[in-house]
Order: sequence, then structure tokens, then C-alpha cells
Amino acid sequence: MKVLFATPEFAPWVKTGGLGDMAASLAPALRSLGIDLRVLLPCYPALQKAFPDAPLVAQLAGLGGELPDAALRAAVSADGVPLLLLDHPDFYRRPGGPYLAPNGRDWIDNHLRFGLLSRVAAWLGSPACTLDWRCDIVHSNDWQTALAPAYLHYLAPEGARSVLTLHNLAFQGLFEQATLPQLGLPDAAWQIDGVEFYDRLSFLKGGLQFADRITTVSPTYAQEIQTKAHGMGLDGLLRKRHDVLSGILNGIDTAAWNPAEDRFLVERYDLRRLESKAANKAALQKEMGLDIRADLPLFGVVSRLTEQKGLDLLAQLADRLVDLPAQLVALGSGDADMELDFAEIARCHPGHIACVIGFDEALAHRIEAGADIFVMPSRFEPCGLNQMYSLRYGTPPVVRATGGLADTVIDCNQTTLGEDRANGFVFNRATTEDLGDALRRAAETWRKPELWQRLQRQGMTAEFGWQESANRYAAIYRALVARRD
Ligand code: ADP
Ligand code: GLC
Repeated sequence: MKVLFATPEFAPWVKTGGLGDMAASLAPALRSLGIDLRVLLPCYPALQKAFPDAPLVAQLAGLGGELPDAALRAAVSADGVPLLLLDHPDFYRRPGGPYLAPNGRDWIDNHLRFGLLSRVAAWLGSPACTLDWRCDIVHSNDWQTALAPAYLHYLAPEGARSVLTLHNLAFQGLFEQATLPQLGLPDAAWQIDGVEFYDRLSFLKGGLQFADRITTVSPTYAQEIQTKAHGMGLDGLLRKRHDVLSGILNGIDTAAWNPAEDRFLVERYDLRRLESKAANKAALQKEMGLDIRADLPLFGVVSRLTEQKGLDLLAQLADRLVDLPAQLVALGSGDADMELDFAEIARCHPGHIACVIGFDEALAHRIEAGADIFVMPSRFEPCGLNQMYSLRYGTPPVVRATGGLADTVIDCNQTTLGEDRANGFVFNRATTEDLGDALRRAAETWRKPELWQRLQRQGMTAEFGWQESANRYAAIYRALVARRD
């Protein structure tokens, strides 16, 4: 069984959020199950730099519409995962991010950049494929690769079966109608049962319409997206396809996120050496210019700063948090307004609140280790990885009961403590009142060392690896291939 895993992100080379981590840790887990899986992704500058001599394995031409000729190059990741790098320098070797130009706006040709990626994914599963490796299954991830099932449907119906994993319904890949012929899709695709979505072309809808199986990254999110409140306009289609939709919780890379071996920390630690966590806290306070206070709980945040993440609520609670008393360290980037708000609360509370605006992998690790309590007040959260990292780092999280957060964090209360299951703090409504109450409960519990260590133990001993979830993806692949035989 040959599986093509098509993704716009793959850590460590390209990562704007959890998809990069997920792809890079799921792919080796699936290969270790004996699946012949290869990863298709654009040859961004970081990949070109990492694999300057990657050999050419195919020249692609005549892909339709205005899709340009391109090349596929082969490389292998440090984990032994074969990579197919889609090379079209004009599209992918640019300064700036994978989706945004240096001016912070979407690249104006994103439909062609990710149309090409989707089209090539479909090509690798079609009779036209000239590689000696043609896949039985195309596994797409998010809107950037979501047109692959649509291309298979319209251009190669006898080709590979398809799986689409939704990591975030908020990003749908919406473009003008004029892009339809540019993408080499037939006029027939412009209909409500095709790629048309309220007079625009939707990459994500194309995938949801034609994928043989749809998965998303937690069981709770799989339910939520079938409701009007969380369906972002696609809930009707998702309800229609509910029989092929399932939620599979993400695992994490337990080697990269392991406090006992984390090279970014000043001292490594595990359950038996929890006192070394205190050294990380002091070092973090020093690094961030906070007062070095062992007697105050330190809250930590590492996040994209967007509406999704609910951190505007936390910014509004800055005064109350400092009055608890407690400290806060935040690392994030995103919406300009929220960046300003975080810079402002730090300015108003020197010694107690510190914020770094930017993307910094090493600091993210040091916050997971050095903070006492992690905060994720998301309005919605398909899975969320940081809460799992924080559980593993003995940094119990405060989360809102949504998506993957609801599936991984168990609120600390009499019942869950009695059953020895509590591992963090969960609140319900996305309001400053509910979040404020949860922050207070967390800070109070932190002051009871025995109780606190019970929470830490729950998180630090839990299983967050890929074993179970990788098996579930493998079962989906097998069922799809078996149906065709
Ligand atoms: P999302 O994908 O919605 O952003 P996740 O929790 O799934 O949320 O994954 C976010 C990933 O990106 C985590 O690995 C997190 O550590 C990382 N991350 C987010 N913001 C930053 C940042 N400013 N600096 C470093 N890492 C970040
Ligand atoms: C998305 C989601 C996040 C999830 C990640 C990886 O970016 O916002 O919740 O963990 O994808 O699946």
C-alpha cells in the first residue's frame, strides 16, 4: 500500500503552527507500521538549503489551466521519511512565509501555488504518473492540498483513493470564480456539489465534497464542526458526509518534546527530578526580565495571537492576574492589534508580565518548562498541541472546553481528584469571568504542593505518542484500498 501524504508544512523546515509538527511526527509513525508513505511538500527555501543536491525524479508539464511546469526532487528526512519536493522556484523559493508575503498579506498567487501542490498530489495517484512509485492513497491536509480529491474526481476517477484531514476549518482557501479555469478544473466543477461556495471557489469544499474519507484532529472537533456554531458555513456538507468523517486525536513528537532530554533547557528533568523545573523557572524569569520569584505562580503562553486562541480575554485580565498575585510570560505573533495589546500589558506590569512578539522554537520549549501553569483559552481548537506539551512538562494547563482541549485536559475538582484523573483546569464560556475564575483556581491549587504534584504526575505519565492514532489512520487506508480490490 503506497500512501502520499501531501502537506504545506513539515517541521523543522516549515511550520507556522501545529500542522508542521503533526505532519513531521505522524509520517514516521505511519512508516514504522510498514506503510510505504512519502511526503509531498513545496521546495521552500529551507528545504532547498537542507537538500541542495536533491535529485530530480520527475519533470511535470501540461498539468492544465495556468499551472506551470514543475519538477519533483527526492530527499529523505532525518527520521528516514522519503520526501518529494515540489520545485518551482518562482512559486516557492521566496523570502517571507509559506502563505504571506513580507508585507503580511497573502501571496497573490496562492491559488496557483497550492493548486499546483494539489494537482501534483493527484497526479502522483493517477495513471499519468511517470514515477516508478504511484500511490494508492492521497492523504491531503488542510485547504492547501484539499483540491487533490477534486482533481482525482474530475481528471482521474480511476486513480488513487483520497483522505482529507482537517486541521482548521477557519482557513478555507477561497478565491474568485476566474481562478477555476486557471486551476485546470472543468466548468462542470462550478456547482454547489462541486467547488463553488457562495460564488467563490473553495479549495476546502472541493476536498470535503470528493474525499473518500474525512478526518479531523480530535473527536470533539469532529462533532463540533457539524454544528452551525463551529461549522464555518460547511456544517451542512459535513453533516451530509458524517458517515465518512471521524476524529483522530493528534499525537506529539515525544522525542522533541521531552523535558528529560530537551537541549533547550538549562536543566533537564523528569518526575523524579522535579526540583530542576525550578531552575528552569528562575532562568526563564531572568531571561524575560521578570522578578525572580519562586513564590509566585508563573503562567505561560506560546501561541499564534488570533481570535481563535482567545488570548484577547487573557490580555483583558492582566491586572487581575498580577493581583492574584502571579506572573505571566507570553510568546506569540499574529494579529497586529493583539500584538500591540500584549506589548502594552507587559509595559504596564514590568517585572510581572513579559511578552515576546515573534516565533522562537527554543523559547517555546523554555516556556513549557519554566512556567508553572500553561494557558490556552481557545474559542475553538481542532486539537492543540501545546496543552499536551505542557502536560508532559509538568506545567498543568488552563484550557477552555473545546475541541482537542476538551479531549485531553481533565478539570481538577473533587470528583476527578478522587478518581486520580485531574491534570489541569477547564472552563466553559469564552468570557473573562470564566477564564479569570480558572486562573484563580489554578493559582490557588499551585500553592498546595502535594495536590499540585498529583496534577503534574497525571500529565507527565500520560501517553501522548502516535501509536494509537497512527493505527487508526492505517486502518482507514486499509479499508479504502480493500474496498477497491
Ligand atoms: P495551531 O496549529 O492552531 O497554531 P497548535 O497548538 O496545534 O496550534 O500548534 C502550535 C505549534 O506552534 C506548537 O508547536 C507551538 O509551540 C508553536 N508555536 C506557536 N506560536 C509560536 C511562537 N510564537 N513561537 C514558537 N512556537 C510557536
Ligand atoms: C491546526 C489547529 C490545531 C491543531 C493543528 C495540528 O493548526 O488549529 O488545533 O493542533 O492544526 O493538527
